[in-house]
Parts: sequence; C-alpha cells; structure tokens
Amino acid sequence: MDVMRGLGESGEPTSLPGVDNLMLHFTPYAEDWSKLPVIVSGDGCHITDDRGNTYIDGLAGLFTTQVGHGRSELAEVAATQMKELGFFPNWSFQHPRSLELAHKIAEISPGDLNSTFFVSSGSEAVESVIKLARQFHKANGEAERYKIISRKIAYHGTTMGALSVTGLPTFKAPFEPLPAGFHHVSNTQQDPEGAADAIEEAIEFASPETVAAVIIEPVQNAGGCLVPPPDYWKKVREICDRHGVLLVSDAVICAFGRLGEWFGIERFDVVPDMTTFAKGVTSGYLPMGGVVVNDKISSTLKAHAPMFAHGSTFGGHPVSSAVALENIAIIEREKLLQNVHDLEGHFGEELNRVAENHPIVKEVRGMGFFWAVEVTPERADGTPLDEDEYQKYFKGVLSRKLMEGGLVCRFDDKDEPVIQFSPALISDREILSKIADITDSAITELEKQLGYRG
Ligand SMILES: Cc1ncc(COP(=O)(O)O)c(C=O)c1O
Repeated sequence: MDVMRGLGESGEPTSLPGVDNLMLHFTPYAEDWSKLPVIVSGDGCHITDDRGNTYIDGLAGLFTTQVGHGRSELAEVAATQMKELGFFPNWSFQHPRSLELAHKIAEISPGDLNSTFFVSSGSEAVESVIKLARQFHKANGEAERYKIISRKIAYHGTTMGALSVTGLPTFKAPFEPLPAGFHHVSNTQQDPEGAADAIEEAIEFASPETVAAVIIEPVQNAGGCLVPPPDYWKKVREICDRHGVLLVSDAVICAFGRLGEWFGIERFDVVPDMTTFAKGVTSGYLPMGGVVVNDKISSTLKAHAPMFAHGSTFGGHPVSSAVALENIAIIEREKLLQNVHDLEGHFGEELNRVAENHPIVKEVRGMGFFWAVEVTPERADGTPLDEDEYQKYFKGVLSRKLMEGGLVCRFDDKDEPVIQFSPALISDREILSKIADITDSAITELEKQLGYRG
C-alpha cells in the first residue's frame, strides 16, 4: 500500500475535452480519468464541480487555500500589480513587492530568520535549502559537509534533490539513481521516544563533519499528521548544535497558519536555521515558495561566497508577491491564526467523537487545522484485506462515500491508511462539525461492508 490515492471516480465521464491531453499528477493510470471530478469554482470553504455538486473543501485545495476560495481582494491586487509591473525577475534587480514581502516575512518569522530567497514551489524551496546548506558550509570553511538527514515516509517534493530528501522509496524507484548523500531516520510515529536520538545516531554514523543539514517538518504530513512528542524539536535543535549541523524546518504545509502560527515551528518553541514555505503564502492563488535563512547563513554567504549561485526566473514574481502580501494582510485582518487556535480543540473533539463510534478507527492525530484519522485495513474478524479488497473498500466505498456526503478531503496511504483534513483557516465550528459528520457516515458505511456492524 504505497501509492497515493485521491478520491477516485464518480458519476459519468466529463463532457469537457482534454481528458486524453492532460497528464495528471500522482494519479494512477488504472483510474478512469474521465470520471475524476472537474472542479470549476470555489467560494469560501466550498467548491463546485462541473455537474453542479458542491462540496466542503476539507483539504484547502492541497493544504493551500488558507483564506478560502473566491477572495476578490486577491484578484484585485493581482490585477493592479499586473497593470503596474506584470513581471520582472529577482536576478540582479529588485522590485517593490518582493522587497516588501521579504521585509514582512522577516517581521513575522521567528528569531533571526531575516532573509528570504523566493522560488515558485515547495520542491524548489527544498532544492534551494540543499544548495544553501552546502554552499554555507563551503563558505564557512567546512567543504566536506554535504550529507542531508531527513525522516522515513516524509514527503519533501519531487525535483531530484527534494525527492532525495523524501523518505518514500516507491516515489523514488522509477527515477533512480538519485544523488548520493541522503539518509533517512525513523519518524516520530515509528519511534516516538527514540526519534530524536535516531537523528544523532545517523549524524554520528555518517561522520558529523560530513553532515550539512537535518530537514524535517514541524508536523510530518505523510503518514498522517505525525505530531512529535513535546520535547522532540528541542532535542533535535540541541543535537544539530552539538554537531555543527544546520536545522531546517520544511514548513511547506505547516506555515501560514495551518498550525495557528506563521511558520508552525513556533508551536515547538525552537528557531531553526532555515524554514521553507510555499502553498499557503499566497493561499495558492498564484505559485510561490521560498526559504527564510538566519543571520548566520546570510552573513557567512555574503562574507565568503561570491554569490548564492542559484536562481529561477519566476522567484519573487511581482504578482505572486503582491498576492502574498494581501493574503498575509487578510490573515491578520480576519485574525485567522487566532481562529485556528480557538477552534483546533473543537475540531479535534469532533474527530474524536467520530472515532469513539468506530472500532475501525485506530487513531486521531493533529494540531491546528491539520488532522488525520487513521483507519485499520482489516475486516471485523481481524482478517487483513488483500490488495483488490483494499482498493474496493477504501477507494470504492470510503472515498466515494466521503465525496457523496459532500466532502473533499484525502484518503492517503503512504504509510497506514489515513483520512486527512486541512480545511481553510476561515472555517467556523459548523464547517468543522460538518466535516466530522460526513466522515462519520462514510466510516459507518465502510464498517457495514467489512462486517463491523449489522
Ligand atoms: C513538506 C513538503 N515539502 C515540499 C513539498 C513540495 O511542494 P510542491 O508540491 O509545491 O513542490 C510538499 C508538498 O506537498 C510538502 O508537503
């Protein structure tokens, strides 16, 4: 069970042209793509498909649409910026919006994370982290530090460097060989007590003077919202400091409010040397990602390297920057970080209420507006499901029932099967309870078919 699965087929084939022309991302060829949902519009926490069905967007697009769909404020700033300066790069030039955005990010980021390198996606952000770490160590007189440590099952993107950081062997196999020097250790679900020590063991095993960075998410997404033990991040910070290794928070999902904070890592009271971001920075209205680095990294590079030898045409795009600035302003105006803090307990209670009724639910985990319900892939009598049955019940029954109930979320099985929730930060109590109710009904149907109920 190692393939990412979405929500599956529904209803009649779409009448729109292009099904044979559009290559989908991470979507099995075995599915009938003509029957996959075609989403045509969005409004607040809801989206509508080409057949007129409306759903709660329980995943915020893809952990992205923080301020909800259909925000005219974002459309207006984009239009204004396009008329003023539609494009100019951050190569040897600067423009007002990327300067303002970098300044704003320095203001809201923790500690001395003060310098931002903009790119256009999360994978590019992770790719940039690898290069920043290696070039920093070279500039700092430790050229032999190039190895990167990350966690098993963790997803960090798809470009060759980011894919090497990713801890999912089946995602890498089709593209091997990948670059050397990437090591993966137990995540906090696999070894809650020993996961921090596993990082130190890996550093020592690799020879500390060859290790450049540790890259981990505040709360690991793949595997289903793996919230670390309270002291995990502090221990990892100490370990990295002890061995001269840079600590990187990959906050592509966790930043911009998902955990109720700007960068998510604040929940663990640690300041990393670098943090990535992407997705929520523009609420997905335009592509943008980035890395924020601390003063040590930026001053060392400025003093000892001719330049950071990396770039991309669209990094710091003026229109994306304008949208990001307005997105941040909306999060501030509407007190959305506070909304997440106020309602995370309610969301967790509602999902735990669902779990109480269902023996098939193994665990509910999460933080902020980022939760997962883990489900056991077995019949009531404990018989495991074979691959065909698993496909039939989890894909065919559970995923379809969620969607028929009016909820788009994600059924994922990079590790154990989980239903994942990441609603817009504007969600109120009613929406969060509705998400739980629809999930309750879908799991009831699954349990009926697997013999858990009459
Ligand atoms: C933690 C993390 N890092 C990196 C990425 C890659 O981001 P993108 O899909 O924008 O390239 C993702 C994507 O989900 C992610 O969750």
